[in-house]
Amino acid sequence: MTTRTKTQKTGRATGRATKQTAGQATRQAQPRVGRLIVLEGIDGAGKSTQARLLVQRLRQAKVPCLFSHEPGGTAGAEALRELLLHPPRGGWSTTSEIFLFLAARNEHVRRKVRPALEQGKVVVLDRFSDSTLAYQGFGGEMTPRARAALAPILAQAADGLRPDLTIVLDLPVSAAGRRIGMRGEKRTDFEKRGTAWANRVRRGFLAMARHGGITARTRIFAARRYRVIDARLAPKEQSEQIWRAVRPIVSQRR
Ligand code: TYD
Repeated sequence: MTTRTKTQKTGRATGRATKQTAGQATRQAQPRVGRLIVLEGIDGAGKSTQARLLVQRLRQAKVPCLFSHEPGGTAGAEALRELLLHPPRGGWSTTSEIFLFLAARNEHVRRKVRPALEQGKVVVLDRFSDSTLAYQGFGGEMTPRARAALAPILAQAADGLRPDLTIVLDLPVSAAGRRIGMRGEKRTDFEKRGTAWANRVRRGFLAMARHGGITARTRIFAARRYRVIDARLAPKEQSEQIWRAVRPIVSQRR
């Protein structure tokens, strides 16, 4: 599980299926032609609103696109989402939780995300692998070493896909908490994990954005680009900033 692939070592060719680790057949996928844009951030940061606005803009610009979210996006992944968001009594161990998220991701990528990219679509995802590092890795207080050990497993679950752009919507935890409260929905198990947890998750996202990956040394999971957006700004202003970051990436696609 810990073998680093050639692609990961060079940090390039984000979309190609990579040589998998022992026990997994090598798969030569078509080169990817679409683009993968991911929105990340703590709960309550406003990802859903910004994802919706981004998809609207892409459609207006007549860019073929697909919007999806994690955990979920396919029947199997949605079934796993249910298990994650409504865990059985006693909950999941951190390791089980990670593997459930990764199983959901692998289903999603192989059945939905990669096929859309191969059709040349721009895929907008509400959360991807950085959420696992931020929530389970940083939130769950894994050591830097343990986080680094997780990275190749995350890459394998993501079928070697890495985002072309990751937008981190950054908001203080107190403000995010107020927004979640205002929604009036029942809080999920994750939203109930408290302020200290949420602060660690926030710091995790910011650290990844700053270092271009999980640590300065271990860049193997880096998106080519990160963009941190101040989620305290008016939604329209955030959407403008996001569009300015997305437009050049979208126009470069083959
Ligand atoms: P999300 O669907 O973004 O929440 P919402 O239903 O409020 O839009 O994600 C559900 C929760 O799962 C969220 O609290 C973040 C958490 N999560 C992880 O802990 N690890 C992960 O890898 C992912 C993708 C999500």
